[in-house]
Amino acid sequence: MIVKTDFDRVIDRRGTCSVKYDCAEGRGKPADILPLWVADMDFQSPPAVREAVQKVAQFGIYGYTAADDSYTAAVRGWFSSRFGWDPEAQWLVTTPGVVCAVANAVRAFTQEGDGVLIQTPVYYPFGEKILCNGRRVVENPLIFRDGRYTMDFEDMERKIIEEKIKLFIFCSPHNPVGRVWSREELLRLGDLCHRHGVIVISD
Ligand SMILES: Cc1ncc(COP(=O)(O)O)c(C=O)c1O
Repeated sequence: MIVKTDFDRVIDRRGTCSVKYDCAEGRGKPADILPLWVADMDFQSPPAVREAVQKVAQFGIYGYTAADDSYTAAVRGWFSSRFGWDPEAQWLVTTPGVVCAVANAVRAFTQEGDGVLIQTPVYYPFGEKILCNGRRVVENPLIFRDGRYTMDFEDMERKIIEEKIKLFIFCSPHNPVGRVWSREELLRLGDLCHRHGVIVISD
């Protein structure tokens, strides 16, 4: 089903405990700023999502829940139809959020003192979760040229070798630079990490 969304409709989110708007001043920003740091939409979620949430709200009991088979089927269906990839149900692990998953993966796949690679500038919790787990941040800065950011593959390979990198936290699409990486960039990146045995956390 095709659902049309009015992307020109401006919805005032102030006064809704929104981190993006209501916490800006508390974070030292001007009150009238348009915050773009967080992956937080200003468009309404599609009708099917709103209806599902309303159904749960109407039920009125908000007890503990667990992901059931319909959840697993939905996630697998998405990966299959979008990416032609069919993960086994037992490979899927739920977490409270991406940042929590990143922190757990850092602990699972590296040891204290190891370097973890990130492409800066990047969503600040990546570096935070590396450091607070006693690992080192190894930066592979993006190149800014002619108003566009690209990856520095030579620098990346050098750092992987010199710093004995086992883990790379990849931001795709990239926050904050706004790049949707091309197929060529992704293939080159995948090949590079594969050749050096680097595990990729793809956020
Ligand atoms: C790149 C990126 N990853 C993860 C998150 C947060 O994900 P979660 O709320 O699931 O921890 C954000 C939020 O802005 C983000 O920009």
